[in-house]
Amino acid sequence: MPLRRRTFLLGGLAGAGTGLAVFSSAPAAAASYPFTLGVASGEPSADGFVLWTRLAPRPLDQDGFGGMPDAPVTVEWQVAADEHFQNVVADGSVSAVRAAAHSVHVELDGLPPGREFWYRFRADGHISQAGRTRTAPAVGTSPALTMLFASCANYPSGYYTAYRRMAEEHPDLILHLGDYIYEGGGADVRAHTPSREITSLADYRVRHAQYRADVDLQAAHHVAPWVLVWDDHEVENNYANLVRDNDSPAGDFRARRAAAYRAYYEHMPLRAAQAPSGENLQLYRRLRWGSLATFHMLDTRQYRSDQACGDGWKDCAEADDPSRTLTGSAQESWLLDGLGQRLATWDLIGQQVFFAQRLSGAGNRSMDGWDGYRPNRTRIQDAWQASGNTSTVVLTGDVHRHWAGNLMNDYDAQDKVIGTELVTTSVSSGGDGNPADDDTSSVNPHLKYNKNLRGYVRTVTRPTEMAVDFRVVDRVSVRDEPVRTERSYLIQAGAPGLQNP
Ligand SMILES: [Fe+2]
Repeated sequence: MPLRRRTFLLGGLAGAGTGLAVFSSAPAAAASYPFTLGVASGEPSADGFVLWTRLAPRPLDQDGFGGMPDAPVTVEWQVAADEHFQNVVADGSVSAVRAAAHSVHVELDGLPPGREFWYRFRADGHISQAGRTRTAPAVGTSPALTMLFASCANYPSGYYTAYRRMAEEHPDLILHLGDYIYEGGGADVRAHTPSREITSLADYRVRHAQYRADVDLQAAHHVAPWVLVWDDHEVENNYANLVRDNDSPAGDFRARRAAAYRAYYEHMPLRAAQAPSGENLQLYRRLRWGSLATFHMLDTRQYRSDQACGDGWKDCAEADDPSRTLTGSAQESWLLDGLGQRLATWDLIGQQVFFAQRLSGAGNRSMDGWDGYRPNRTRIQDAWQASGNTSTVVLTGDVHRHWAGNLMNDYDAQDKVIGTELVTTSVSSGGDGNPADDDTSSVNPHLKYNKNLRGYVRTVTRPTEMAVDFRVVDRVSVRDEPVRTERSYLIQAGAPGLQNP
């Protein structure tokens, strides 16, 4: 879309320096403050991004409509080149409608690459918080990228101090690798709303709203664009009821999944290309960060074969059946094609479940991760080796512990490192960790680091190397703990595997 003329920047100088009054001619506030869920941006491209907000003056209303009336509400938006909104470069308005729970998604394009921007909304006479975002750098350039990634933020398990500390790092980009919400009840450090397992569209909307009302989570959204993929808990643990013949509490797993996917889209800064269609939502996608990095974001939940041997730790021969798939064949082809294009120095695969082989002490494998779908993993690894890509890093969540490991050509032979895996611990899931719990068993020699504390991973990526810091907080049962780096690594471009800094 071309940059639009500023239609409501009237008397803007009156607000100069205050950062508040550039939206002029504001009508008197006619309703309660609607921006209780904050604002967000995501999906950065070289010329744009997505802006998001949802109007919800009473976010926990059980009907899932956030205290909004039936009628559509006009939401104005602004994008500025400065945090005081004195240089507004794009603006417009959209209609927030009840069918979408008064959420709005605005897709910007036509902006210059590699720049910071600030954005905000106005509705019902109220002005939202301002968010900071950015466009990706242009192809042909490779400026350093500070990127944080996180996963697994079960609300009852603890406070979102990790999100707060992420905001304070002012990253260029944040990846979220799944389990953004949890579907269960629970009241440990704090209580889920509703207090039972959620199954309906109204339930999922309320649950997302509860998470989004958290000020620490809002802070992380307000500081940088996010790129998200889900894991299982955005719908249900391990999609278990799909396997158990639709005996979900909702009575129909597919209806439940459709409700969960719809609420997910309504609450995330995703493009219209990701709008759900019934029980399906196309979440796997590629984002380019100049000539520095390509993000291949995977969906390892929606298309996988049923878990042949259940989802526990097993030594199950069916896991080696080549017809079994974690990605589905279409997503696998798409990934192999994208890796083969070698669009940038680094290929970063953002996904959910443990990628490297990880054996238990008894020699069993987790059937929920890639170990349960070995031929699928082998085909992907073989493809990036065949295309000569020596700077592939897999970014993972799910397991509620930090892990770092080398990806091996052959996990039995342990002869050749062909990539690197960085696994982020949880934001809060599992509650306070245990710093003495450091499980690097000799049965997994390619796995170099493990720590059971909450936190996130920071990466600073350059054309020659990626610097990795595993960031931890000691407790999430109390607010406002400090963050520290527990372990650091370097990954050299062209020389896969972990190196000590
Ligand atoms: Fe999780």
